[in-house]
Amino acid sequence: MFICAYLLGSIPSGLWIGRAFYHKDIRQLGSGNIGTTNTFRVLGRKAGIVVLFMDMFKGTLAACLPYFFQSFQHPLINPLIVGLAAVAGHSFSIFDGFHGGKAVATSAGMVLGYSPIFFLICWLVFGSLVYFTRMVSVASTLGMVIVFLLSFLFHDAVLSIVAFILMVFIIYLHRDNLKRVKAGTESKVPFGWHAKK
Ligand code: G3P
Repeated sequence: MFICAYLLGSIPSGLWIGRAFYHKDIRQLGSGNIGTTNTFRVLGRKAGIVVLFMDMFKGTLAACLPYFFQSFQHPLINPLIVGLAAVAGHSFSIFDGFHGGKAVATSAGMVLGYSPIFFLICWLVFGSLVYFTRMVSVASTLGMVIVFLLSFLFHDAVLSIVAFILMVFIIYLHRDNLKRVKAGTESKVPFGWHAKK
């Protein structure tokens, strides 16, 4: 199950869609990230939406694997823990030389597979932060801190532990973004999200 989840998460949607349909390597363009934000930035709105859904779906499907294998009883077989394997695959993809994205969309998808209510709360936090800061990286990192704190409302130890792991991991993956935020050079979302193509 963990191997399945890792392989699912490893599918580098942004990289493959860029190569197959736009003949572009998004690792060489924009921020160089293969995730949703850079796909919007470099390939445009249509590709961005597809990559967002694909990257999220990897997490959702991985988190649902334990439900498909109900007979397999083990304390580690928790949707969030299996989902973490997909997040690891997304950021250390076997199909991209163990590089990858910054874990946000796949983590969100994983939460959707576990708790749709918590997923809605996460998106409300993330969406508000994008609206007010116009920086997806700030929304992702600050959002993770808020989401971690909000997880305590659910009295679910695994949820809070996984939220903590993701908070540390996502902040680490955004370290270059945070340097740019400090320097005032981080790119901002143009409202209306006018993609280049
Ligand atoms: O989820 C990735 C986002 O937070 C930042 O992406 O391309 O601006 O580094 P990017």
